[in-house]
Amino acid sequence: MNNAQINFVVVGALLCVVTVGAWWMFFRTDLIVGEQLALNYCGSCHALRPGDPPRSGPTLWRVAGRRAGGLKGYDYSPAFRLQVSEAGFIWDRPRLEAFIENPQSVLQATNMTQTSKGHPLTFDGVNDRRFRNDLTAFLLQLGHPPQTP
Ligand code: HEC
Repeated sequence: MNNAQINFVVVGALLCVVTVGAWWMFFRTDLIVGEQLALNYCGSCHALRPGDPPRSGPTLWRVAGRRAGGLKGYDYSPAFRLQVSEAGFIWDRPRLEAFIENPQSVLQATNMTQTSKGHPLTFDGVNDRRFRNDLTAFLLQLGHPPQTP
């Protein structure tokens, strides 16, 4: 190999490293960020782990795979109960992500999005796509054993 060829290979390799690095920085899923977002956006109304003090909303521990409105012992609002009995779905990735983006697009009128007695706070959704991705990924594994790909 002459010098020009070596330079070509070195520059090519560097470009690959920079591209992969940038891709990783921008598109990787970050569960630590996801947990912080969950604490900030959801933690005021939802317990995340079994030892957390109870809050106004149902716990998000093992929310993935749970039937909507299906947490035993939690007193859902009548509006929420009516809608999930009609829609009858399981919380999976697309449902959680859509709900986090815009709760009203999945279920109308819940105690979560309407200020009501006992629920003085409201939540209207997370706009940032990366934040939603990290938050959804965190919720999907919360209370579940790590997935092997
Ligand atoms: C203002 C308080 C509040 C905030 C903030 C909030 N929630 Fe809720 N959430 C509730 C309440 C209350 C309910 C129960 C709805 C009902 O009974 O009408 C609920 C219900 C839910 C449900 C349905 C659970 C089930 O068992 O079917 C999910 C999923 C959920 N919230 C996720 C989230 C996520 C994720 C966040 C943060 C991004 C969040 N919530 C932020 C109050 C809140």
